[in-house]
Amino acid sequence: MKILVTGGCGFIGSNFIRYFLKSYPNDDLINVDKLTYAGNLENLSDLSQSPRYYFIRGDITDAPRMEELIHKGVDAIINFAAESHVDRSIEDPSAFMKTNVFGTFVLLEAVRKVFSKQPIRFVHISTDEVYGSLGETGAFTEETPLAPNSPYSASKTAADMLVRAYHRTYGLPTVITRCSNNFGPYQFPEKLIPLMISNAIEDKELPIYGDGMHVRDWIYVEDHCGALDVVLHHGREGEVYNIGGRSERANLVVAQTILDRLGKPHSLIRFVTDRPGHDRRYAIDFSKIERELGWKPSISFEEGISRTVEWYLTHREWWKKIKTEEYLNYYKRMYENR
Ligand code: NAD
Ligand code: DAU
Repeated sequence: MKILVTGGCGFIGSNFIRYFLKSYPNDDLINVDKLTYAGNLENLSDLSQSPRYYFIRGDITDAPRMEELIHKGVDAIINFAAESHVDRSIEDPSAFMKTNVFGTFVLLEAVRKVFSKQPIRFVHISTDEVYGSLGETGAFTEETPLAPNSPYSASKTAADMLVRAYHRTYGLPTVITRCSNNFGPYQFPEKLIPLMISNAIEDKELPIYGDGMHVRDWIYVEDHCGALDVVLHHGREGEVYNIGGRSERANLVVAQTILDRLGKPHSLIRFVTDRPGHDRRYAIDFSKIERELGWKPSISFEEGISRTVEWYLTHREWWKKIKTEEYLNYYKRMYENR
């Protein structure tokens, strides 16, 4: 099998590529990535000599380039490529519309042009954020109406609708996954957990939005990779699969857990002005993938946090290099005077 991964130099994509090549020693993988601020070749530097791994720097909105690549012959595409950070989408949504919406359209079109002669499975990586926000109880199922609240989640919802339409109209063999919040190695330190860990290691403040009682369901990235593996090989065409970690935690508890692991004081936490349109709570009902494909998460939140804290402690060079002038300017804009 030869698969094409988009956005493989980011957090989840790089973890998936390593997982896939280890699990399938006879398969090949092409990774096409634009290398935005979030894409990092170092995330996969250990694979640079692998004869089964090919990296191509490219943009998924570049239609001729994507057609050329896809028409050369791949069995499946896994579309991770996206602008992924909600706060950046609030600051400037345009790149989110280009990559997340138009980029997905470009890939679908490229598949549509050849799939009658060359069957290509299209696995689209979406997010639980397309469902909007929950109250105190309940969980998102695949039937929950879509109600995105941020420019990021609106762009992901638009892409999901395109994928659905290409399946219904043209019969493209598509599958959509909607996962909850991932954490683990190689996550860019703009997201909650790597930001909290790296700031705590450096004795810097941990900025918590609002009252800190917003709840996310956390999944260790390796569990997400396992779920994508079963969806890629066995997911039913035209279907959506929710993926979750069964680990709901308030943000304040996440920050306190990290500080405790590092032996740092809770006084490092600073409450800051809330994110506009901030979704209050996410929870995932993943009984469909469990029932149909036999997948469930295996790494507890506590175990995942221990592994992640250890990784950031032993890979300081990786994240210190990322904290460039561009990053520090972003941090200033986002957190100063907040
Ligand atoms: P990330 O920001 O770490 O990585 C995104 C990657 O996409 C980067 O390598 C970047 O260079 C690449 N990219 C961006 N624009 C591109 C373009 N136009 N062409 C080619 N490559 C491009 O993101 P992530 O956290 O790894 O998320 C990956 C996917 O999973 C996204 O689609 C995201 O919406 C989805 N998702 C993320 C989470 C999470 O918790 N991180 C949860 C559910 C779903
Ligand atoms: O649910 C899946 C989604 O999870 C993915 O689709 C997104 O790509 C991914 O970025 C993530 O979105 P969130 O907005 O939930 O993740 P983030 O890490 O930005 O924030 C997690 C929670 O922590 C959220 O309630 C906001 C809060 N937060 C975040 C940051 C960065 C803080 O309180 N302080 C912070 O500094």
